[in-house]
Amino acid sequence: MCVWTTLHNSLLVLVSNTCHLPAGLYDKCFYASSDRGWLLGIKAVSDQANRDPRFFFSLKTDRAHKLTTITSNAPYTPNQWSHVAITYNGLFMKLYVNGAQVAVSRDQSGEIFSPLTKKCKVLMIGGNALNHNYRGTMEHLSLWHRALSQREIIRYMGHGLSQFGDLSQLVIHENFESMSRRWLTVKDGSCPRLEYSDRSLAAVLSDAELKPPPCGQTVCDNVEVITNYYQLWSFRKPKTVRYRVINVYDDDGRWPTITDHQINLQHQHLNNAFRVYNISWERTVHNVYNSSLRNRLILANCDISKVGDEECDPECNHTLTGFDAGYCKRQTARCPEYKQGNGVCDPECNWDNFYYDHGDCCNPNITDVTKTCFNPASPHRYF
Ligand SMILES: *[C@@H]1O[C@H](CO)[C@@H](O)[C@H](O)[C@H]1NC(C)=O
Ligand SMILES: *[C@@H]1O[C@H](CO)[C@@H](O)[C@H](O)[C@H]1NC(C)=O
Ligand SMILES: *[C@@H]1O[C@H](CO)[C@@H](O)[C@H](O)[C@H]1NC(C)=O
Ligand SMILES: *[C@@H]1O[C@H](CO)[C@@H](O)[C@H](O)[C@H]1NC(C)=O
Repeated sequence: MCVWTTLHNSLLVLVSNTCHLPAGLYDKCFYASSDRGWLLGIKAVSDQANRDPRFFFSLKTDRAHKLTTITSNAPYTPNQWSHVAITYNGLFMKLYVNGAQVAVSRDQSGEIFSPLTKKCKVLMIGGNALNHNYRGTMEHLSLWHRALSQREIIRYMGHGLSQFGDLSQLVIHENFESMSRRWLTVKDGSCPRLEYSDRSLAAVLSDAELKPPPCGQTVCDNVEVITNYYQLWSFRKPKTVRYRVINVYDDDGRWPTITDHQINLQHQHLNNAFRVYNISWERTVHNVYNSSLRNRLILANCDISKVGDEECDPECNHTLTGFDAGYCKRQTARCPEYKQGNGVCDPECNWDNFYYDHGDCCNPNITDVTKTCFNPASPHRYF
């Protein structure tokens, strides 16, 4: 075990086949009662037992009331080396996996340790005092006094320490060759033990490829994260996005929804707009000849089941739905019984409550259904 004081730090570790806690800096004085300090490990993020294990970085500064934990965007891959880095600069906590920043938080701020508790720190590798142990291999570990930038982390992944001119901020660089001289082992028996490999560091690191996270409702929506993808060219390898235009025509091939000219123009604009991101677009056009479909109206966000569902859905409020089957319009006129289903489409009876005039308003033999059929269940409606 090793004791020292530190303020802000960066930790870089290379881990594989992991379970639980590769490393943590704990508060020794209040250890039993508190979770102050920082922790890097692996834990399941879902409630389902050990499913979906991810790297996490948690931190609680001396003055914070709560612990903050950030987790990687994707599960870690067992039996494969990962390069994991965590940084904290007094403002941002960041987690990097294989050079990619995968999580960030600014919930903690200020120094990790107050002057009073600085002497209390203990760094543990491979587990904690609560017997949460790490089953896996660590190639090396380094700890810095300052938060490394993403560029530095990537450079370090590729070339090791040789790339750093100034090593004055390096607190520790451990390759575990002389463990017993520098560390106190707390476990009995055969753990931890040294394993020799004939694989070079370069080969180990080539396992750890740069992989941007999949986008969606994820960390990609975080501006800070997305900006650093944008700034680093290695994440901007050329990509092609394929898309398909479905153009609906009348049965006789006339009246296209969109002209060829418009399609070409849009394609050009797409390519121009995304060229700076190294993204190009590949288009195919699919023509559909179907007058019935061509006449349909598409209401964005209006699921058909919402029409006439007894409440007004503004997204479905359109003349072609009869203002959401009447629910978005105050019904003033009354519908007398003799008019219901009398073979004429009576507007005052044309809503859900009167079964759309008992079918009269969706009967093409009686009325122009393109204007009067609001029944979502009818094949004659035009939305
Ligand atoms: C596009 O990708 C190439 C090849 O990876 C790279 O050299 C170039 O810098 C990238 N361009 C932009 C604008 O990102
Ligand atoms: C045309 O579109 C309608 C929907 O508006 C669909 O029910 C019908 O099957 C389509 N016809 C053909 C030939 O695909
Ligand atoms: C529905 O649309 C009509 C016509 O556009 C409008 O007058 C009415 O206020 C809308 N109703 C609601 C509840 O949005
Ligand atoms: C419309 O008239 C045709 C022919 O007279 C008939 O076959 C069809 O069932 C009628 N449609 C409706 C909805 O009544």
